[in-house]
Amino acid sequence: MTVNLVIGTQWGDEGKGKVVDYYSKNADYVVRFQGGANAGHTIKVGDEVYKLHLTPSGVLQGKVGIIGNGMVIDPETLIEEMDELTKRGITPNLLISDRVNIIMPYHKLLDGAEEKLLGDKKIGTTKKGIGPCYTDKIARKGIRAIDLINKDTLSKKLDDIIPVKQKIFSIYNINNKLNKKEILEKYLEYGNFLKNYIVPTQITINNAIASGKNILFEGAQGTMLDVDYGTYPFTTSSHTIAGGSCIGAGVGPHKIDDIIGIVKAYTTRVGEGPLPTELLDKTGDYLQTKGGEFGATTGRPRRCGWLDLVVVNHSCIISGVNKLAITKLDVLEGLKTIKVCIKYNLNGKEIDYFPADINLVNKCIPIYKEFKGWENVKTIPEKITDLPKDAQIYLKFIEKQLKVPITLVSIGPGRNETIEV
Ligand code: GDP
Ligand code: IMO
Ligand code: MG
Repeated sequence: MTVNLVIGTQWGDEGKGKVVDYYSKNADYVVRFQGGANAGHTIKVGDEVYKLHLTPSGVLQGKVGIIGNGMVIDPETLIEEMDELTKRGITPNLLISDRVNIIMPYHKLLDGAEEKLLGDKKIGTTKKGIGPCYTDKIARKGIRAIDLINKDTLSKKLDDIIPVKQKIFSIYNINNKLNKKEILEKYLEYGNFLKNYIVPTQITINNAIASGKNILFEGAQGTMLDVDYGTYPFTTSSHTIAGGSCIGAGVGPHKIDDIIGIVKAYTTRVGEGPLPTELLDKTGDYLQTKGGEFGATTGRPRRCGWLDLVVVNHSCIISGVNKLAITKLDVLEGLKTIKVCIKYNLNGKEIDYFPADINLVNKCIPIYKEFKGWENVKTIPEKITDLPKDAQIYLKFIEKQLKVPITLVSIGPGRNETIEV
């Protein structure tokens, strides 16, 4: 029995989908525990490319996918995703927590309106209603999956919520009129479609652990988007770190074996907020183009920069990462020199931690260590020692600096473009 966890150690899009799919071959259940359709996890299987937003990536390996209570789900998107997978010959084997919060039409409208009001101070959200839905959850005004299969409860909740939202709409100059009857009917329909999947998933997961099954947790986003440990307020609204899995799936911390931190070999970020190692030059464009760095959810170009080990170390510590998976190493091929940030210079002082205050983060000047680049690798290496020597030096440095061993190196989006150590 193993219970393993995959999390992103940067600003998301580290290649979690690819790595989760790869490790899913050994799993019985693959569990998402936070976030929602803001996530976009890409998996390449042969010539087929899948972009999953709500469905756990393990379903492509035929494993049971669990949507844990810590997520926020838009039923319309979920049903579309299930339909699309089915059309492509994969019937997703899904379970949905009865406690999961539901994204309602007013959440999406408010997400857009809040961003508009913020103007040039906007967060650059995915506009999927994530922030407003988590806000309602914490304010205890949320609608949960279980409510979608109880007409009375849903109706009463909407009676309480809709007039308040309508008032908030007027503050934000949102002209839409919320029609309770329409919303009730639509969401009951979703409930009717999803009812057979809605169960107390924490029981399923804990029973599975007790009977020796293998569980793989699939984090979404990354540490720097965590609502506490990220570049607040330029974050998402959930706990993206390892601890989020305990709350977001109902599992005791001592049950988790390995915590695998995914590290993209350089850094990317979508949306606004600080990115200390950002490259606003030709090298940044090179990484963006060669890495195909466009958001899997919004299609926005991702900002690119050098690998920042202050950031990754911050992630490793907070989540207790004990294994590293390095992705997109191939994208660095062909560069003459490669830089890695090892510390920051903040007001003339060297620091090796990530400040809480983004005003200070904005003043941090990265201190780099330089590495020699390597040429394109023609054939897929089977072992780390098949990689060019300078690539091996780069990897060894990451391990040494973070004091965490590398157990997987990804050198392309495909399943076979993976070296397990
Ligand atoms: P996630 O959100 O962490 O699952 O990552 P995304 O799917 O949003 O973005 C990662 C992108 O990089 C996807 O297009 C993947 O297919 C691709 N990818 C993953 N690993 C590798 C790799 O090692 N090399 C290359 N070139 N692409 C990769
Ligand atoms: P995956 O799982 C990259 C970013 C948004 C924005 C901020 C807040 O694919 O790695 P939100 O819609 O969550 O309120 O947006 O977080 N963001 C992501 N960036 N990858 C993601 O997910 C992201 N999910 C949210 O761009 O800056
Ligand atoms: Mg993504």
